[in-house]
Amino acid sequence: MTKLTFIEPSGNRREIEADGGQSVMQAATAAGIEGIAAECGGSCMCATCHCLVCEAPGGLPEMESDEADTLEFTAEEMRETSRLICQIEVTTEIEGTVFKVMGR
Ligand code: FES
Repeated sequence: MTKLTFIEPSGNRREIEADGGQSVMQAATAAGIEGIAAECGGSCMCATCHCLVCEAPGGLPEMESDEADTLEFTAEEMRETSRLICQIEVTTEIEGTVFKVMGR
């Protein structure tokens, strides 16, 4: 299990424990984290899983070009810490990461 924290659009801070073998988006939506529409189901096409990374103690995997391209079409302005969480796999290496959900 990997502990992840989400700051929901309302400001609520929620910690979840996620199993590996899924994306951060899948773990977050299964836990009922607010503000993640995930309209494309994780295909890196909708940008409705946009989050800002507030803390990443162990770092995060590098962004692929597909993710960077889709991030240009987010409803909110893309920032340096922007990520599409459907493109990040849950692993023990990302333990302690804090994501701010951008929502809509
Ligand atoms: S769920 Fe659509 S881009 Fe992540």
